[in-house]
Amino acid sequence: MIYLDHNATTPVLPEVFEAMRPYFTEQWGNPSSAYKFGAKLKTVIETAREQVAELIGANGREITFTSCATESNNAAIHAALKANPGKRHIVTSAVEHSSVLPSDGRGTG
Ligand SMILES: Cc1ncc(COP(=O)(O)O)c(C=O)c1O
Repeated sequence: MIYLDHNATTPVLPEVFEAMRPYFTEQWGNPSSAYKFGAKLKTVIETAREQVAELIGANGREITFTSCATESNNAAIHAALKANPGKRHIVTSAVEHSSVLPSDGRGTG
């Protein structure tokens, strides 16, 4: 099989899996939690944020981690609307992923 949908989901390299293993198995707490088990992971997230920023020549404050493409699309659309309060129209097309189509069904053909 030739898999051509890596934008939807993709396997990680073995070294990535190994780097992440502790956070899948032993240190899986929520870094935003008030208790120590999770909160101590905040520094791990912040280190990752700085590493990603350095890779693309950005500032860590400019990096936002999201859980999926749908959340990313929503964040981008909401940020664009907030930055342009006078503009209320978003142009999309029927071939876009459903996460960027109007929830009332317009644009779904
Ligand atoms: C352009 C685009 N947006 C959003 C999604 C939805 O992704 P997720 O399931 O990660 O929210 C996909 C998935 O294929 C996609 O290709």
